[in-house]
Amino acid sequence: MDMEVRESFSLKKFNTFDIEVACKYFVECEREEELLEFVRSYELNPEEVLILGGGSNFLFTEDFDGVVFYPTMQGCEVVGEDGDDVYVRVGSGVVWDDFVAWAVEHGYGGVENLSLVPGHVGATPVQNIGAYGMEVGESIVSVEAVDIVKGEKVTIDAVTCRFSYRDSIFKHEWKNRFVVTYVTFRLSKRPVFRLHYGSVHDEVIRLGEISLKTIRQAITRIREAKLPDVKVLPNAGSFFKNPLVERAFADSLIEKYPSLPVYPVDEDHVKLAAGWLIEFAGWKGKVIGHAGVHEKQALVLVNTGGATGIEIAHLANEIKKSVFLQFGVWLEAEVNVI
Ligand code: EPU
Repeated sequence: MDMEVRESFSLKKFNTFDIEVACKYFVECEREEELLEFVRSYELNPEEVLILGGGSNFLFTEDFDGVVFYPTMQGCEVVGEDGDDVYVRVGSGVVWDDFVAWAVEHGYGGVENLSLVPGHVGATPVQNIGAYGMEVGESIVSVEAVDIVKGEKVTIDAVTCRFSYRDSIFKHEWKNRFVVTYVTFRLSKRPVFRLHYGSVHDEVIRLGEISLKTIRQAITRIREAKLPDVKVLPNAGSFFKNPLVERAFADSLIEKYPSLPVYPVDEDHVKLAAGWLIEFAGWKGKVIGHAGVHEKQALVLVNTGGATGIEIAHLANEIKKSVFLQFGVWLEAEVNVI
């Protein structure tokens, strides 16, 4: 398919919150060369640009007066092997969970705990998606992208991506500058299973022998039980990040709230379970207008039907204030608010 540029284009189908907004230009591209040609002729800067994958991590509060790039590169190809490792190059437009299914099917480990995470492959390094004790940054070898500023094709290695908890260089210095076209992953033919998070181990055992397939099944079940289906209740997964705080501060909170879940990060820092804080502050299941807090996972905000982005942003702000007043912790959005 040739590259398509559309004007005044509705993004309703391209954001999982199902918000009715439009962008000035929408550029869908499947071929790198065409994308390169486009960025060379328009000399855009990152402020005028937004790069959309599955749209599962955006909250639009108004129309976007710029260019939205929607890369749809396809393909999933083994490009090398090295001992027990295989290298797989995947198009940025591939649905993430289809890639996970492919990997599990082939017996390649490294992404199985990330089953059912929404979105496209190209967005995964930006966000460094993570779940159930695994982060995608651990498996990424390199990211191919088009630099919209220099009009060049680049290959960025994993170290340069600066992956950390739900974070990468693509959210900071390089925000909206690189349109990811392909991602190369290192997967293992002899996977080391990771079962330590929450109820993963018990759920796998219930399904039978421990394997990539049973892990994928178990995680699918756990997610489906807690996380709302975007087709039924539009949402963007966890709305907030789990806040990183100093260990001493966390200790003082635990004295007051002994059941507060805490995850170790390094010697001096821990993460707190934001979902717990929000639930404890009384928000779980609450609805303001058309925006709600999911009744099974307080970290997830939902569009109960016909919400505007502003309504959801307003609910998010009320939650932030209330959690701060109660616990002295500022929550930070994981979702990109536009
Ligand atoms: N909790 C509550 N109430 C809630 C939600 C959670 O008390 O309403 C408690 C749970 O009981 C548990 C702890 O908080 O003790 C953690 O809950 P959970 O295992 O559901 O994970 P989370 O920290 O809320 C994170 C990710 C999810 C990911 C899960 C599993 C972030 C921001 N979120 O959620 O990611 O699926 O862990 O690994 O890190 C996403 O990013 O969109 C997402 C869904």
